[in-house]
Amino acid sequence: MKNYCFLTFLLGLTLLFSNCSRRKEAIKYSNNFDILPDRVWAGEDFWTIPLEDWQINEGRLECTGNSSNMRTNLITYPIKPGNGTFALNVTCGMLHKGDQEGTVGFSIGVKDDEDPDVKAACYFGKGLNLGVRTNGVLFIEDQTVSFPADFSWEKFHIQVEGNFSLKGKAITLRLMNEQQEEVAWLVKESIDEIEGLIVLGVNHHVASPFSNGPSFWLDDLEISGTKISYEEENRFGAILWAMYTNSRNVLKLTAQLAPVSAQVNGEVHLEIEEGDGWKKLATEKLRVDSYTATFRVGNWDPDLEVNYRISYSENLKDGETSDYEYIGTIRKEPVDKPLVFGGMTCQYGYGFPYTPVVINLLKEDPDILYFSGDQIYEGNGGYSIIRFPAERAILNYLGKWYMFGWAFGDVMKGRPTICTPDDHDVFQGNLWGDGGRKIELEDWQEYAGTSGGYIEPAEMINVVHATQSSHLPDPYDPTPVEQGITIWYTDMVYGKISFAIISDRIFKSGPKEAAFWEEGRKDWITEQGIDLSRLDKPGLKLIGDRQFEFLTHWMKDWKGANMKVLLSQTLFANIPTHHGSIDGILAGDMDSGGWPQTPRNKVVDLLRRCYAFHVCGDQHLPLFVQYGIDEFRDAGWALCTPAITVGYQRRFLPDRLGIPYKNRPDHDLDNTGEYIGGMGHKNYVYAVGNLPDNTRSELRYERAQLSSSGYSIITFDPESRDISCNAIRFLADADRLRPEDSFPGWPVTVNQFDNAGINRTGDKITIQSNGVLNPALLVYDAKTEELLLSVRMKGDKFSGIVDGSGRYNLKIGNPETERWKTISELIPGEPGTNPVVVRF
Ligand SMILES: [Fe+2]
Repeated sequence: MKNYCFLTFLLGLTLLFSNCSRRKEAIKYSNNFDILPDRVWAGEDFWTIPLEDWQINEGRLECTGNSSNMRTNLITYPIKPGNGTFALNVTCGMLHKGDQEGTVGFSIGVKDDEDPDVKAACYFGKGLNLGVRTNGVLFIEDQTVSFPADFSWEKFHIQVEGNFSLKGKAITLRLMNEQQEEVAWLVKESIDEIEGLIVLGVNHHVASPFSNGPSFWLDDLEISGTKISYEEENRFGAILWAMYTNSRNVLKLTAQLAPVSAQVNGEVHLEIEEGDGWKKLATEKLRVDSYTATFRVGNWDPDLEVNYRISYSENLKDGETSDYEYIGTIRKEPVDKPLVFGGMTCQYGYGFPYTPVVINLLKEDPDILYFSGDQIYEGNGGYSIIRFPAERAILNYLGKWYMFGWAFGDVMKGRPTICTPDDHDVFQGNLWGDGGRKIELEDWQEYAGTSGGYIEPAEMINVVHATQSSHLPDPYDPTPVEQGITIWYTDMVYGKISFAIISDRIFKSGPKEAAFWEEGRKDWITEQGIDLSRLDKPGLKLIGDRQFEFLTHWMKDWKGANMKVLLSQTLFANIPTHHGSIDGILAGDMDSGGWPQTPRNKVVDLLRRCYAFHVCGDQHLPLFVQYGIDEFRDAGWALCTPAITVGYQRRFLPDRLGIPYKNRPDHDLDNTGEYIGGMGHKNYVYAVGNLPDNTRSELRYERAQLSSSGYSIITFDPESRDISCNAIRFLADADRLRPEDSFPGWPVTVNQFDNAGINRTGDKITIQSNGVLNPALLVYDAKTEELLLSVRMKGDKFSGIVDGSGRYNLKIGNPETERWKTISELIPGEPGTNPVVVRF
C-alpha cells in the first residue's frame, strides 16, 4: 500500500476533534523525517529559504548554510487568531560552529502585513523571534535569560508554549539538554495576538551582512494545539507547476519538480482525463539537474479541452512510496475568436508574489501567456547568488526560479505559456552571449560586463533553458552553440497567429568589440552628439546568422496562420533617455536592441516584409513604438510590455532634455512623436509609461505601482487583423478598468497591415484573387530571388509596397492545400497590373 501524497509527511498526524465545541479542536502535527530519502526538498508542508542551504539528510532536516535568516517555513500549519493554546517542540544540534554568534529557534505568527498570501509570508513575513543564541542566551525577541557555559550543543531541545485566553497572553520558552532536563526558561507576557506561519529559523535574529555563522540540524518537530490550523491547499510539491504549448498538433509540456531525491529511473507520468478515469499519454525520466520532465505528444487534437494529470512517486526509506500529482487543463485552441495574449516581463522580487497581477491575469483569462525574460533577478528571495560551482549555482537559481512558478503556477496551469530567458535569468545584468562563448569572471569584471559570453557554467545555463523553455515547440535547429549550450528559438502557430520566438541575446556581440572610447563602461554612451554609426562595425551580431536563416524560413510559412508576431526579449530601438535615476542621462545603451545597427535594420526590415508585429519586454518602461529604418514610420509596430515589478528604472523624457521631435500623435501626450533614438534610429514613440520622479513607498505593491509596473493584454484578431494593445498598471482591477489604470496612450489599436510602415517607398503591387479567399502572397525579386513581401491577404484584394529591382515573381495560393499560382517577371505599373488578377 502506498502513502498518498497528502499523507506523506504528516507522519503521526492526528486530528483530535473534541466532543465539545469547534473552538477546542486541537491539531497535532509531527515529523521525524526518518523515512524521507536524502534530498534538498524538505517536503510539501515546508518551504526552505535559501533552497541550497537546507536538505534532508539521514532522517534529519539540516541547515548547512552559514548566512543570516535561513528559514524553513511550515506552510500548512499556521497559527490562527483567537484564544487557545499551542506547543512547539524541536530537537536540534550544531553542525558547524562558525566564527560568529548565531541562533536557532522559531519565528512564530509570521505574516506579511501587505499580502495575506502564504507565499508573501515566507519571503516578507515578520513574526515573534525566539530561540537560543550561541553566546548562551535564551531569547524571546529582546527579552533574554542566560544559561550555563558548559551547555552541550551536540543535541538539545527547544520547547515553546503559547497560552492565549481572556485572562492574558503568554509565551513560555524552554531549553532542554539531550536528557530532556530543563536548562533555562523564559516567559513573555502581555504579548499581542499571534497569527501566521511557524518558521524554523537559523541565524534568524541577525541582519545581513553576515557570514560564517553556525549551522544546525533539526529533527522531531512536533506542533499541537487549538490555535493551530491546517491549510491543506498551501501544500507545494513535489510537482510544483507545469508549462505547456501546443502548436501544429504537437503538445509539449514540462513538469517542474522540487529537488527530490536523485533516485535511479525516477519517472514522471502524463495522463489526460477520459471518462471517469485517466489515460496515460507519456512517461519521461526526471532530469535530475533541472528537476524537469518534458513531454512531447504528437497527433494532438487542438479542439480538445481536457484536464491533464502529472504524477511522480518517490521511494521512501521504509519501502513505501510517496505519490504526488498535479492537475491542470489543456485548453482548446481558439480559432473562431480573437486571440487574447498576456504579455509579461521582468519580475523584481520585492513585488513577489505579485498577487494583484496574478489576480488580474486570472480575471483577464488570456488564451496564451508570454513571459519574455527576467523571470528571476539575482536578488530575488532576499539572498545573493552563487556563481560556482555549477551544482550550487543551479540550486541557487532553482530557489529563485521556483518563486516564479509559485506565483504564476495557477495562471499557467490552464493555458499555453511561452517563456524565454533573458540576461538576469543567467545571472548576468546584461547578456551578449556571443554564440555561447565562455568568459572568465575576471575578464567580465575587468570590462564591466561588456565582453561577449557567458560567465556561468554551461550546465547551469542549460538548466535555465530546460526549466524555462523546454516546453516550447521543438527548436528550429537544435544544434547547440559553443560550450554545448542549448538553444530554443522556434515558431508556434496558435489561434491563427504565427509566432516566431527568438533570442536577441544568445548570439549578440559584446560592446567591447565595438566601443572606441577608453574610459568607463563600454555599453553606455554618456557623451551626447557622438557619431553612433562608428559603433556599427562590420560583422557584429544581434540575433545571429542562424536565427536570420530561421526567420527567413518563418516569414514565408503561412500554414494555419493569418498574422505574424515576433517575440523576443528587448526592443529593436534604444528609447530611454534616463537610466537608473532621474539624473542618469544616457545618450545610448548598447544593451538595447538598437545596437548593432546593421543587423537591427535587417531584422526590422524582415519584420515589415511579413507585416509582423513585435512583442518584447526588458526595458522596464512600457512603450508602443513604430520602427523606422530609412524614414520615420517606414517599418512595423512594437509593444514593450510593462515589467511585472520594476527594479531598475528607465525613463523616456526627451522633452525635458530639449530633444526635438515631429508629428506628435493626436493624443498630444508629452514625450511622444518622432525622435532620433539612442542608436540613431528614427523612432516614432506613440505611447510611453514613464514613472513619476518620486516613486518611494514603504509598501511593496504601492512601490510597484509607482514604478510603472504592470502587464499587458494584446488581442490579435485574425479576421479583422486588428492588434489591440493595453498596458495596465500593477494595482488595477481588471474587472473595473478605469482610464487611469492604463498607461497614458493605451489602449491602442493598429492593424496587421500597418506593420509595413506608412512611409514605406517602392513599387506598389495590387492583387485581386478570384477563387481563393485569404490566400498567402509571396513576392520575390526576379533578379535576386529575395523574398520581399509575404502576407496572408484579407479577403481577395491586397495592395502592398515592395522595394526591389522592379521585376517581381509572385507566388499566390492556399498554404493549407498547397495550391499555388505563380506569376513571373511582373513589372508594376505596366498595363494590366493594377490590379493583377489571379484566377484559381
Ligand atoms: Fe529586466
